Amino acid sequence: MSGSGITPPGFGLDGRVAIVTGASSGLGAAVARGLAGLGARVALVARRPERLAGLATEIAGCAVVSDLSDPQQLGTVVPAVVEQLGPPEILINAAGNRFGTAAAECESLADIHSTLNLNLVAPMLLAQAVFPHMRTVGRGSIVQISSISGRVGIPGIPQASYAASKAGLSGLTTELAVQWARHSIRVNTVAPGFFRSEITDSLYDSERGGSYLRRNIPLPQEGTAEDIVGAVLWLAGDASRYVTGQTIAVDGGWTAR
Ligand SMILES: NC(=O)c1ccc[n+]([C@@H]2O[C@H](COP(=O)([O-])OP(=O)(O)OC[C@H]3O[C@@H](n4cnc5c(N)ncnc54)[C@H](OP(=O)(O)O)[C@@H]3O)[C@@H](O)[C@H]2O)c1
Repeated sequence: MSGSGITPPGFGLDGRVAIVTGASSGLGAAVARGLAGLGARVALVARRPERLAGLATEIAGCAVVSDLSDPQQLGTVVPAVVEQLGPPEILINAAGNRFGTAAAECESLADIHSTLNLNLVAPMLLAQAVFPHMRTVGRGSIVQISSISGRVGIPGIPQASYAASKAGLSGLTTELAVQWARHSIRVNTVAPGFFRSEITDSLYDSERGGSYLRRNIPLPQEGTAEDIVGAVLWLAGDASRYVTGQTIAVDGGWTAR
C-alpha cells in the first residue's frame, strides 16, 4: 500500500481478450497459460493445429491456425479472434525463428527475407490489425518478444538477420508507443536471454553448449520459458500502466556483464 493512500494497479486481466502468437510451444505456450491464469480469454496462434487445440482445451481459449509468414493467412487472425472472443486488448508477438546457421557473409537472401517476415513484418502487421479494436476499447498492451541478440552480438552462434529482426522490434516498439500513446495503447518489448525450448534444446543438451551457457550467464540456474513469463504478464496488464516504449532484458544477467 502506498503512503498516498492510492492503491497501485494489480496484475488481474479478468475477461480481457489476448492474442498470443507462437502459442504451440515454448514461451508462447507458457505466456498463454500465464495470461489465462490471470483471467484473460486467450486466442492461441501458430501453425500446428493439434498443439493449439490441446492448449485451448486446457485454458478454455481458442485456437487460430495461421502461418504468419503468409500475409494472407495472417490477415484472417484478428477477424477470427474478434468473432470468437471479442476485441483484443492484449497482443503478445512471441512467434519467431532463426532460419539457418550461416555466417553473416553467407546468409542467403531467402533466409534473410524469411527471418524478417516472421520476426519483424508479422508483428507489425498484427499490431496494425489490433490497433482499431484497441482504440475503440480505449486501451491496449502489445508486447513483442525479441532477444538479447537484438542488443549484443552473441559470440559463436551466427545470427545476423535474426539479430537485425529482433533489434527492429525495439525500434518498432518505441515508434508505436509514441504514435499510439494518446489512445492508451502501450507497446513494449521483452528481450529474453537463453532459455530451454524447441529451438535451443540441442544447445542445452550438448556438453559444449551447456558449458558455454554456464560461463556466460551470471545467475546460476538454467533459464526456462517460465522465467520470462513474469515480465510479459506485468507488461500485459495495468501493473505496468505507466510503462511504454521500453525493451526489457530478461536474461539471467547476460547483458549486464
Ligand atoms: N529460446 C531462447 O533461448 C530464446 C532466446 C531469445 C528469444 N527467443 C524468442 O522467443 C520466442 C519464442 O521462442 P521459443 O524459444 O519459445 O521457441 P519455440 O518453442 O520454437 O516457439 C516458436 C513458436 O513460433 C511458432 N512459429 C514459428 N514459425 C511460425 C509461423 N511461420 N507462423 C506461425 N507461428 C510460427 C511456432 O509454432 P508452429 O511451429 O506450430 O507454427 C512456436 O509456437 C521467439 O520469438 C524467439 O525468437 C527465444
